[in-house]
Amino acid sequence: MIIQPQIQGCVARNCHPIGCRAAVAQQIASVKAAGPFNGPKRVLVLGASSGFGLASRIALAFGAGADTIGVSFERGPSDKGIGSAGWYNNIWFRQAAEQEGRIAVNLIGDAFSDAMRQQAIASIRQQLGQVDLVVYSLASGIRLLADGTQVRSVLKTTGQPFSGWGLDLEHDSLVQQSLAPATPEEIRDTVTVMGGEDWQLWLQALQQADCLAPGVQTVAYSYIGPESTYPLYRDGTIGYAKEHLHATAEAINLQLAALGGHAWVSVCKALVTKASAYIPVLPVYLGLLMGVMKERGVHEGCIEQMQRLFASKMYGPRGVVADGNRLIRMDDHELDPAIQAAVSALWSKVTPDNFHALGDFAGLRRDFMQLNGFELAEVDYGAPVNESALTELTP
Ligand code: NAD
Ligand code: NA
Repeated sequence: MIIQPQIQGCVARNCHPIGCRAAVAQQIASVKAAGPFNGPKRVLVLGASSGFGLASRIALAFGAGADTIGVSFERGPSDKGIGSAGWYNNIWFRQAAEQEGRIAVNLIGDAFSDAMRQQAIASIRQQLGQVDLVVYSLASGIRLLADGTQVRSVLKTTGQPFSGWGLDLEHDSLVQQSLAPATPEEIRDTVTVMGGEDWQLWLQALQQADCLAPGVQTVAYSYIGPESTYPLYRDGTIGYAKEHLHATAEAINLQLAALGGHAWVSVCKALVTKASAYIPVLPVYLGLLMGVMKERGVHEGCIEQMQRLFASKMYGPRGVVADGNRLIRMDDHELDPAIQAAVSALWSKVTPDNFHALGDFAGLRRDFMQLNGFELAEVDYGAPVNESALTELTP
């Protein structure tokens, strides 16, 4: 079978499994090139199959020699299709990690469920004994609560409606998008799905099960962004959820004190991932930002961000490097006033006719395609993919 990309709006409907292998290999090579660091040896990654979670897992396994258990929600091949990119990322990661003698376990299922917490606890006991680090990198539009209620997050603003140019990845064009103000219920629901409650449930369950090693650390990922994006993010429903996540870090930090452990939030830079491509208007900011940051030589992708986070801002010679609010700032380059001034100047001029000339929308698009295994230079997309061989692969 020859696999062609199917993009619908800003969602990829399929993936190229062999391309996913090349993308994972590229991330591994990037971490190896950056050199080893003295990081945690036993790690649980929640949301391990793509984006920041996958990059974290790769940085820790191949940079610090960590054994890892990764939890994610992904689809394998079936009569409905080839399966999701994250499904293959898990498999290719495990194969590469095992080749270097690392333990790599993939748990597939709902990270919001108690059943998955119990499965992870059993796996930690069996494979690792305890963990030194828990990475919380879930991004989801829906959370199933223990009582069976389904809660949905929304991407809306608060206060006044907000509209601007958005990016249509399917047609490579700009389209008007708007964010309506959320109702109080929508804000609350988004906090339930994307806030810190589930992170805390994980750390409580792990601590009760004696799965956390002395000095354990946990980190969750957040975004703040520049003032120009506040209506889209910080003052939107997702911003409320992140505010809750930040507050939860303090509660978990207190809980971990008994073990000499700590909970942190890492505020990352805006990057193309499955989750971020879905936020209205933000990808236009991102395309302009990528252009400016590349021009100034400070661009980072997911893997460079996570490698720098662990090697120099969490496990480097200075230990954890955080700001006065105990936030680890990986958005330092993005928020550089000179960079923001350049982005704002471009943003005020951007139109459907000139956007390619003003920002790195080709780079953004390529990153998006590569998340799904497409447009990698080293892959021969004319070569047929052996579906039955893929069906035999297990997570
Ligand atoms: P992503 O979509 O690439 O990854 C999400 C991960 O969560 C995947 O591994 C997916 O399988 C997993 N997942 C989702 N629902 C699940 C469930 N019910 N059970 C188990 N696993 C589940 O997203 P991402 O952009 O890497 O986001 C990760 C975190 O980083 C989020 O908290 C996000 O807000 C944050 N962040 C992202 C950006 C950005 O620009 N992309 C910037 C700063 C912070
Ligand atoms: Na992730």
